[in-house]
Amino acid sequence: MVLCFNILLSLITSCAFVHAHPLDRNPVDEANLAALLSSQPIEADDVIIETIALQLNRTSRDSKCDACINRLLIGKTLVSTRPDLVAPAFTKWCVDSKYSSNNTCYQDYGISSVNGSSEGSNYADLLSQMDPTGYDGHLYCYFRDSYNCPRPVTPNVTISHLFPPKKAEHMTAPEPGTNGTFNVLHVSDLHIELDYTIGGEANCTDSLCCTPHSVNRHKLEGASSFKGLWDSYFNSYYNEDFSFEKGSEVNVFNGTSWMPAASWGYYHCDSPERLINSSLNSIVDYATQKNVSFDFTIFTGDMISHDLGKHISYESTRESEVRIMKDLKSRMGSTPVFPVLGNHDNYPYAEMAPQKYGFYNKFSWNSDLMSDMWEDFGWLNEEQAQQSRTHYAGYSVETKMGLKVISLNSNTWYPSNTYNYINASAVDNFGQFEFLIEELIASENKNQRVWITAHIPPGLGCLPIPSKIFTEIVERFSPSTIAGVFFGHTHKDQFEILYAGSGNDTKSMENALNTAYIAPSITPWNDVNPAWRYYEVDKTTFSIMDMHTFYTPLNATYSNDGAEPTWKYEYSARDIYNISWPQTSPLNASYWHQVAQKMKGSVQYRQLFRNLYYRYAPNTSNCSTSKDCDDDYCMVTEFTADDYNNCVAAVST
Ligand SMILES: *[C@@H]1O[C@H](CO)[C@@H](O)[C@H](O)[C@H]1NC(C)=O
Ligand SMILES: *[C@@H]1O[C@H](CO)[C@@H](O)[C@H](O)[C@H]1NC(C)=O
Ligand SMILES: *[C@@H]1O[C@H](CO)[C@@H](O)[C@H](O)[C@H]1NC(C)=O
Ligand SMILES: *[C@@H]1O[C@H](CO)[C@@H](O)[C@H](O)[C@H]1NC(C)=O
Ligand SMILES: *[C@@H]1O[C@H](CO)[C@@H](O)[C@H](O)[C@H]1NC(C)=O
Ligand SMILES: *[C@@H]1O[C@H](CO)[C@@H](O)[C@H](O)[C@H]1NC(C)=O
Ligand SMILES: *[C@@H]1O[C@H](CO)[C@@H](O)[C@H](O)[C@H]1NC(C)=O
Ligand SMILES: *[C@@H]1O[C@H](CO)[C@@H](O)[C@H](O)[C@H]1NC(C)=O
Ligand SMILES: *[C@@H]1O[C@H](CO)[C@@H](O)[C@H](O)[C@H]1NC(C)=O
Ligand SMILES: *[C@@H]1O[C@H](CO)[C@@H](O)[C@H](O)[C@H]1NC(C)=O
Ligand SMILES: *[C@@H]1O[C@H](CO)[C@@H](O)[C@H](O)[C@H]1NC(C)=O
Ligand SMILES: *[C@@H]1O[C@H](CO)[C@@H](O)[C@H](O)[C@H]1NC(C)=O
Repeated sequence: MVLCFNILLSLITSCAFVHAHPLDRNPVDEANLAALLSSQPIEADDVIIETIALQLNRTSRDSKCDACINRLLIGKTLVSTRPDLVAPAFTKWCVDSKYSSNNTCYQDYGISSVNGSSEGSNYADLLSQMDPTGYDGHLYCYFRDSYNCPRPVTPNVTISHLFPPKKAEHMTAPEPGTNGTFNVLHVSDLHIELDYTIGGEANCTDSLCCTPHSVNRHKLEGASSFKGLWDSYFNSYYNEDFSFEKGSEVNVFNGTSWMPAASWGYYHCDSPERLINSSLNSIVDYATQKNVSFDFTIFTGDMISHDLGKHISYESTRESEVRIMKDLKSRMGSTPVFPVLGNHDNYPYAEMAPQKYGFYNKFSWNSDLMSDMWEDFGWLNEEQAQQSRTHYAGYSVETKMGLKVISLNSNTWYPSNTYNYINASAVDNFGQFEFLIEELIASENKNQRVWITAHIPPGLGCLPIPSKIFTEIVERFSPSTIAGVFFGHTHKDQFEILYAGSGNDTKSMENALNTAYIAPSITPWNDVNPAWRYYEVDKTTFSIMDMHTFYTPLNATYSNDGAEPTWKYEYSARDIYNISWPQTSPLNASYWHQVAQKMKGSVQYRQLFRNLYYRYAPNTSNCSTSKDCDDDYCMVTEFTADDYNNCVAAVST
């Protein structure tokens, strides 16, 4: 890993002080430097940008991993004198050398502004504090920059100094009481598309479909083959009293779109607001018809659209968050909602900066906005809202029945958060795990049971160290204190079992400690039917006794004369897997262990899991004819990022 570091340094410092460096490097650099140094007054910024971009391009002669590390080193040198030039220099290099697409270059390195989610200043923040040649750099070059370096070995970390040792009494969960159950609603991944446009291209080849800027690279010749099948009604919406206005029918087959977006959405698009309203109304309708009430709702995050950064703005981010909170409030009434923020729920996308390293107030507009609304709506009290403002929108609440719900911001463990590569081998850069442990110890001491909610599940798309630390904590406090952990993010209906001594191949009924419940999404992106669920919860122990999931087959709305989607009962988790299980026993990790074993042994069970995973959407995998389902056993039986990775590697060899 050789780099012309001094040259760069001299180049940059020369701009400030002029000359004083030996010009004994290769000709390209010398020429640039000579030009720079001879210019009086000192060359303009664009010359420095140009020279840095050329230096960055020169790294393409190194091995992929060295090249990536060397770029970080160049950036680190630049940021120490001219942080303002990091964004333009890296963008120029990225675009000119075609390192990524134009869109990706601007997203990753572009100058940050209110229009177009560009992360250039976050990248400069990262460079200012990271260690490019150590774990930080290697982790970054694997997870955040195109797998350029091999996946680094995870250091042997622990956070056990923050909690007392686990005792024998912590190895068992309390038995459900005799007081019956109550219900908790779980909705996830709403992803509102503010730009949803009826007639927009639903079969797009670039960016997200169903917007005014969605295009199909291939020109449609003649009429769309879908003519006559798609019912599109303009201006159909729900009133404040939930009543539905069908709007007026319109022929969107005018020859411009392969598939004109219809009223309720499509599998390659995010949710039009009317689909979100329909989902929430279906919940209220069901509750009314069946005389079911929900004590509270958990919302496991993601409100913003998946569109390219250039179509997302600070304003549209705020607007999406506010709109969704209001829609939830309008339908949930006096039932409290306990939300978390998802990876999409910040601007720029996925960023979250650790206060510990000096980034105070960096994104406080977001935790302030959300905490203010949560408090105004009566979901959090004053103290909890204040905790949320200062804890990256994470908080702890005690429900009226005595359950504690702890909500975390999982961008602290997400690979797309640029700030996660600062001092990445430290175990708790955000102080979030310390907060979690303090809350758990307090509950353990008074025999209170706890639910944990966050957006991103630990095994799927999570950085190895925080995944391991989170798992260590959940293992320590399970099954006695932690009654359940709840996530969204994948859009799929799935679960992850935590076994004692995770990763050491002890997947047995006795070792099964806890289960992560991963809820299906409302958004149909990508290839799933919109779905929501509720849990039947034991009143005494807060253990899950059953889980009921509902969905709507979105394709039925293409030819339904503009009517509202029809929502269906999908399944009961206690019934569908045909496992003999005592009615009085909760659906604990031992139950899910049996489901996992059935999946391991039978293609029919893997297919059943996949049908639920996609909610019977048209592109549901066929486990007999495709390899899609091969990793499913790893997916449901591994809890940490590394264990899942190792398990999949073992399956594929
Ligand atoms: C980047 O470097 C490569 C050789 O490694 C060269 O072919 C290419 O022209 C350079 N691109 C720019 C924009 O300088
Ligand atoms: C590249 O993206 C930027 C930012 O979105 C835009 O301003 C520019 O026009 C794009 N250039 C090309 C060639 O597409
Ligand atoms: C951002 O976009 C809005 C409208 O979409 C426009 O009014 C505003 O001028 C733009 N701001 C900048 C800084 O480009
Ligand atoms: C990891 O650390 C623990 C103590 O923190 C120690 O017992 C164990 O042997 C270490 N494992 C490795 C592979 O270094
Ligand atoms: C076709 O319909 C779309 C959506 O309504 C509209 O934006 C577009 O202008 C129409 N094109 C023509 C040629 O009428
Ligand atoms: C979607 O567009 C592609 C061209 O990009 C075309 O080949 C395909 O048939 C289209 N699919 C449908 C269902 O219209
Ligand atoms: C969704 O419901 C909210 C709250 O009642 C309402 O303000 C909004 O106009 C509705 N939007 C649509 C498209 O139905
Ligand atoms: C609805 O359920 C409540 C208890 O949850 C019960 O008190 C009430 O009588 C029920 N109403 C009807 C109409 O069944
Ligand atoms: C990295 O984290 C460790 C452990 O928390 C801490 O002691 C150290 O000061 C941090 N390093 C930097 C450069 O902030
Ligand atoms: C593996 O599991 C066994 C059985 O539960 C346990 O005794 C052992 O401590 C675990 N090993 C590790 C490294 O956690
Ligand atoms: C359950 O019922 C028993 C007796 O009916 C009562 O003493 C106990 O407090 C109840 N527990 C809860 C959590 O409601
Ligand atoms: C929707 O898709 C499912 C799954 O492919 C299919 O069984 C069903 O017939 C479709 N419904 C309509 C109305 O096309």
